[in-house]
Amino acid sequence: MRLFAIFSVLLLGLNNLVSATDNGKTTDVTWDKYSLSVKGERVFIYSGEFHYQRLPVPELWLDVFQKLRSNGFNAVSIYFFWSFHSASEDVFDFEHGAHDIQRVFDYAKQAGLYVIARAGPYVNAETSAGGFALWAANGQMGSERTSAESYYSKWYPWIIKVGEIIAKNQITNGGPVILNQHENELQETTHSADNTLVKYMEQIADAFTEAGIVVPSSHNEKGMRSMSWSTDYQDVGGAVNVYGLDSYPGGLSCTNPDSGFNLVRTYYQWFQNYSYTQPEYLPEFEGGWFQPWGGYFYDTCAAEQSPEFADVYYKNNIGSRVTLQNLYMVFGGTNWGHSATPVVYTSYDYAAPLRETREIRDKLKQTKLLGLFTRVSGDLLKTDMEGNGTGYTSDASIFTWALRNPSTRAGFYVLAHSKSSSRDVTTTSLNVNTTAGAITIPDIELAGRQSKIIVTDYTIGKASSLLYSSAEVLTYATLDVDVIVFYLNIGQQGTFVFKDTTKGLTFRAYGNSNVTSSSSEYGTKYTYTQGDGSTVIKFSNGNLVYLLDKETAWNFFAIPTSSNPNVSPSKQILALGPYLVRSASIEKDTVSLVGDNANTTSLEVYPGNSKVTKIKWNGKSVSTKKTAYGSLIASAPGAESAKVSLPVLKSWRSQDTLPEIKRNYDDSRWTICNKSTTVNAVAPLSLPVLYSGDYGYHSGTKVYRGRFDGRTATGANITVQNGVAAGWAAWLNGEYVGGALGSPSLATTFAELEFNTSSLVEKDNVLTIVTDYTGHDENNVKPAGTQNPRGILGAILTGSDNENFTSWRIQGNAGGESNIDPVRGSQNEGGLYGERLGWHLPGYTVPKSAGKETPLDGVSNAAGRFYTTTFKLNLDKDLDVPIGLQLGAAANTSAVVQIFMNGYQFGHYLPHIGPQTLFPFPPGIINNRGENSLAISLWALTDVGAQLDRVELVAYEKYRSGFDFDRDWSYLQPRWKDNRGRLLVDLGKEK
Ligand SMILES: *[C@@H]1O[C@H](CO)[C@@H](O)[C@H](O)[C@H]1NC(C)=O
Ligand SMILES: *[C@@H]1O[C@H](CO)[C@@H](O)[C@H](O)[C@H]1NC(C)=O
Repeated sequence: MRLFAIFSVLLLGLNNLVSATDNGKTTDVTWDKYSLSVKGERVFIYSGEFHYQRLPVPELWLDVFQKLRSNGFNAVSIYFFWSFHSASEDVFDFEHGAHDIQRVFDYAKQAGLYVIARAGPYVNAETSAGGFALWAANGQMGSERTSAESYYSKWYPWIIKVGEIIAKNQITNGGPVILNQHENELQETTHSADNTLVKYMEQIADAFTEAGIVVPSSHNEKGMRSMSWSTDYQDVGGAVNVYGLDSYPGGLSCTNPDSGFNLVRTYYQWFQNYSYTQPEYLPEFEGGWFQPWGGYFYDTCAAEQSPEFADVYYKNNIGSRVTLQNLYMVFGGTNWGHSATPVVYTSYDYAAPLRETREIRDKLKQTKLLGLFTRVSGDLLKTDMEGNGTGYTSDASIFTWALRNPSTRAGFYVLAHSKSSSRDVTTTSLNVNTTAGAITIPDIELAGRQSKIIVTDYTIGKASSLLYSSAEVLTYATLDVDVIVFYLNIGQQGTFVFKDTTKGLTFRAYGNSNVTSSSSEYGTKYTYTQGDGSTVIKFSNGNLVYLLDKETAWNFFAIPTSSNPNVSPSKQILALGPYLVRSASIEKDTVSLVGDNANTTSLEVYPGNSKVTKIKWNGKSVSTKKTAYGSLIASAPGAESAKVSLPVLKSWRSQDTLPEIKRNYDDSRWTICNKSTTVNAVAPLSLPVLYSGDYGYHSGTKVYRGRFDGRTATGANITVQNGVAAGWAAWLNGEYVGGALGSPSLATTFAELEFNTSSLVEKDNVLTIVTDYTGHDENNVKPAGTQNPRGILGAILTGSDNENFTSWRIQGNAGGESNIDPVRGSQNEGGLYGERLGWHLPGYTVPKSAGKETPLDGVSNAAGRFYTTTFKLNLDKDLDVPIGLQLGAAANTSAVVQIFMNGYQFGHYLPHIGPQTLFPFPPGIINNRGENSLAISLWALTDVGAQLDRVELVAYEKYRSGFDFDRDWSYLQPRWKDNRGRLLVDLGKEK
């Protein structure tokens, strides 16, 4: 196959004189050492990682995609979690709710984004078992991520099924998919054709081919550690078409803004060594970073969210000649249900540019400046590294990358402090080469942690190409006139010179940046000091130049008027002012914009069509004036006057959710733990096998009941493994006998339980063990990776010579692998009694006997309760107001708390571990207009009990939005049915 690909390249090269390489399967997506080309056009891939599973409301995928597109992205990279789609062997769900991935492709296409598909089979992703189906991750896969048959037979059907859907959505079929990744960060450590990893990569390639994938394959190297799967380096098989390198260089600290911030400047050399025939691709570049249990909450990590990070790091990538970049994550979302792997807690905000609440952070706005620049900078798509170092500037503390387009001679000089963490403000001059000869550009100021891209011989169109500019190009548009947009910090100086302009060009400036012109040997030089806000220069040839200060630039939009991800500079409408402009179109004399605004702002639109005199904002005409330079000015309404009143949560009802701790609880229909051997490679510490995965229970809380006879046992040695931070507690004949609180540093917890012998009976003592669960491990966790068993590893009675447990039974999530709630999916629920009976679901009515205690009352000893209430919200139809639930508890409260909003577990709160106490819900999970069912489960890990001291709804920022969030979400919120109890009986899982 590899040889075939090379031959076909040669043939193409000879026949068509096309310099681009293709994979022999399609010429819709090709590549060379400079860039990817789609349908014959070079394109800079400016992509962000998005996991639809982490936002289980399909309608909101479009919201996120529109925000990305408007903020300069042209692609999304997507993991497909096998675990989310396959609750049991040979069963796949691509249909219910957020499982319907066709909608991901449709919305991406609608929004104008390419898709990079990443279906594994292993994805890592801080998701449970790294995305492996949990039914498979109980040990039966054997040597995972190798060519082992035991593993192959499990993943192959997944790749075929998901591959067929991806294949349907390839660009060759009119869909958005342009690249398809094989596996994930799999390191090629042995370059030998008979190596099992090489064979595994070939199996994956074959499976995707069988599924119909023809777009180029890609892979992501896990940092600069090994040299994997590149056709340019010791290719013995399994190599992909487009090699990529993952990099998370930030090392930023949540507490110390001065630590970290060390740029990596060796990407270019790495790619030159290992993938020199391919474009430089960063399949995962730091968009943020995750936080562990017991770590920091994302909202407090200011360093990771700083716009400076985006500015300096992403520009350094450009300087390194990268032309494909994917930010991991651009939107993190939520590890709802039990989808997290133990290294992360509920929020997967990731300090990403787009917040978990779908709010636009300043980091995203800064990222946009570069997205809009790369989108139109055709010259940037074919550059050679001309040089680099500290010798280009008058100040040796500045490092410069010098890139040159060999065809157009355009130059890109990327400047940053050599010591990237420097907060010095440095003014320097830069020596550049242009078609008009060598030039020294003076007075370039770099503030601390600022990078600038200085362009030379930069092609724009008509009569406004730049000979050079020391102001940064944000973007340009070739409309009825050419419009160039520059940005600088307030007070910084910019100089620009047009190329080949006719003599006698005059200008007028509107705004408070003072612009002067002076002649030079290579043409008129325009110099200005950036003032506050926006200044517009109108030239006598009609062309416009916008001079924006950086923060004004954050609210600048160039809205494409076609849905082609590869945006033409002539197909844009420019807008300035609001928080978000999602779309823009022109009909007759009116330009219609759809967008969102927190506060009322000014709105300036340059439609590129002098017949347009009116603006509609979110469907309503707004009073419009024309400026002297031809743009339209209006005002875009915000939400400052909108009333958001959130109800106080009350009328709680409560029920015991740990009835199983009583000795006489009837567990006769529970699953019997009767295995004396396990498929798992990890040997149990006692028999019978008590691994939950051996009995079909994977996600969430597990309840075990072990029986033994006699009064001689003095205690039990119990070893539990349910992920770091997962605690457990045990009761003997209803009496609390100990457990473990769980710790972020302990994968396995052990406790010597001490029995009070007076509570023992002659026959059928019952030891009930309830265990929390924080997920299945990822592949890198010893000894067995994703297959590290979950549940009880060992249970041995102490003090009794020959007595041992006579039987064990287990209960996990209702129905086990049978996926009784396919919309929310098999990872939503665990095995707490209230969950099994569906008390968390909307429409469940509590019996009259239920108590009226609230989560603030809690429990006074080692007990557990399930609290339910309902509340109504009635937000304005045109508002987007993220709503969250704020919980709190006194220090040293050791408890396991779960939040269920309309049946979705959207919060796993461990007050004794932290850090998360505020849990947001997206619309669709919460009903911003209508009734909501809220449930909270709480069980104390010790006999001092536990209660919360805060349970209240909170509103984040409010936005007046043109996106319709007022929908009927009922299809995502299936209600409790009175057959749930019966259903469980039928399944033999519940009494
Ligand atoms: C700097 O540029 C030279 C000339 O192209 C190149 O050989 C060298 O690898 C570059 N250095 C780095 C750090 O990329
Ligand atoms: C400009 O080009 C000349 C000739 O190619 C070269 O010697 C010189 O180093 C270049 N200067 C810069 C600043 O790139």
